[in-house]
Amino acid sequence: MYSIVALLACVSAAAASICCVPPQWEGSHSFVTTIVHNGKPIVSTGYVTMAFDAVNRKIGQYEYITIGNTVQRRYGVLLDYNSNTKYIINDQGRCYKHALNRRKEDFGGCIPDNSTVVGQKDVVGLGDNVMTVDTYRLDFGGVVAYISLTSDSCVPVVETIRGSLDGSLFLQNSHFLNITGGLSAPENLNAPPKGCEAAIEFNPHFSSGEAVPSTIGRRSYFLGL
Ligand SMILES: *[C@@H]1O[C@H](CO)[C@@H](O)[C@H](O)[C@H]1NC(C)=O
Ligand SMILES: *[C@@H]1O[C@H](CO)[C@@H](O)[C@H](O)[C@H]1NC(C)=O
Repeated sequence: MYSIVALLACVSAAAASICCVPPQWEGSHSFVTTIVHNGKPIVSTGYVTMAFDAVNRKIGQYEYITIGNTVQRRYGVLLDYNSNTKYIINDQGRCYKHALNRRKEDFGGCIPDNSTVVGQKDVVGLGDNVMTVDTYRLDFGGVVAYISLTSDSCVPVVETIRGSLDGSLFLQNSHFLNITGGLSAPENLNAPPKGCEAAIEFNPHFSSGEAVPSTIGRRSYFLGL
């Protein structure tokens, strides 16, 4: 009991907010992203399995991406807010890292007080088999996010973001699925990840070749990814 209270206190102390997602959970999300690169839209689709740890300020993800119907990629991504580092492991097991450019206090997962309420207790489903969701609009300067969460426990359901990323316009829709509370394998969030001790530094703002490297692991503004 004590530890649950401590967890909640630890997370909600961050800032005044309408609600925060559970402090530790696992789940999946599927996404469709369109990025306009040099005037051409590039669509990528995929899904992500993820572990979210607001207590230790880390997010781990496995991404499966299809870019423009043909190119398939898999990545493991760890965002470690404590060391301000993003690690990316590609499907050949190569490990890269670069600065997240976030402070510990920037860890996401809460709906800030100044968000715009778009909908409250909107019913999803039919008959007895319903849940209700609340929807908010969050403004991040160049990016706007619409996020719907369950009304009772602030579990993410769907997020739509649009804006500009490294000078390219983008639109992304993500659905969250199969979320379960707690972390079944917290060791997977160790930093650096296994095999990443000698990760190569890279600059995510390169624009040659594939247009998407800068979006790897960047799937939810709201969650702070
Ligand atoms: C909400 O507050 C944050 C932090 O105080 C600020 O950066 C952001 O611009 C504000 N958003 C709006 C819509 O006022
Ligand atoms: C979600 O869970 C159901 C039931 O366990 C499973 O059949 C389905 O494949 C899962 N979906 C994803 C995307 O993990």
